[in-house]
Amino acid sequence: MKFGCHPSQAPKLLEVAAQLDLSVVGVSFHVGSGCLEASAFARGVESARRIFNIADQYGFDFDMLDIGGGFPGQESAAISFDEIVADLGPALDEHFPPASGVRIIAEPGRYFVASAFTVAVNIVAKRMVARDIQEFKDEEAEDAVMNSVAPSMCEEPAFMYYVNDGVYGSFNCLLYDHAAVTPSLMRDVDKEEALFSTSVWGPTCDGLDRIMEHCLLPELQVGDWILFEDMGAYTMAAASTFNGFSKPSCYYVVDANMW
Ligand SMILES: Cc1ncc(COP(=O)(O)O)c(C=O)c1O
Repeated sequence: MKFGCHPSQAPKLLEVAAQLDLSVVGVSFHVGSGCLEASAFARGVESARRIFNIADQYGFDFDMLDIGGGFPGQESAAISFDEIVADLGPALDEHFPPASGVRIIAEPGRYFVASAFTVAVNIVAKRMVARDIQEFKDEEAEDAVMNSVAPSMCEEPAFMYYVNDGVYGSFNCLLYDHAAVTPSLMRDVDKEEALFSTSVWGPTCDGLDRIMEHCLLPELQVGDWILFEDMGAYTMAAASTFNGFSKPSCYYVVDANMW
């Protein structure tokens, strides 16, 4: 545990704090950013109540509960805000009703920003490969495909697109935030349009720099844009300029009727 303590250690800490005559005002917990369990918040509240009761016995007058962050910020999240509050609301009402006088605060991070940003990446290079490239036994044929100079021998090719942002930039969330991203295009895809097995790669020299291992997209061209929605949290803030690639530019857009 990086910060704080397990609830079971709280009584000992309070005992020492009381001996040292320290001022302790309440309990703060954080269920973990990207929390996958809606009930974790309510459990945190129950633990906090137990610690408040122990603090009472040591003569502290706790008046602050901080329920931290970890609230989802996008509709595609594994748990929804509604699922969380369905548990959390009643837990707060039961253990920290208004009459308790306890001030309840939260520290939502991704909740506010995740859906506020869309990353638009531009295709800077393209490669056509045989879909079954791993199964090629004939070395000559494999060379032809690997070079991708010759047209694929497979009737249904796969495409690799290299784009101008990757895991060393905004998509570091794939490595550090357990994120899963979904590509879309700036145009509608016709129902009849052929879709191809596609992988999307960042611009750096590193083989790790892969955004999508597999998705289905129509054939795209160098210069086309691919969009990734809900990229506002834990993305650009932790981006680097590794390999000399700049961080993305940020454009703020607001609907005319909201202006
Ligand atoms: C102490 C603290 N508060 C709030 C947050 C925000 O968390 P989230 O973005 O999951 O809401 C974090 C991020 O991990 C944090 O460490």
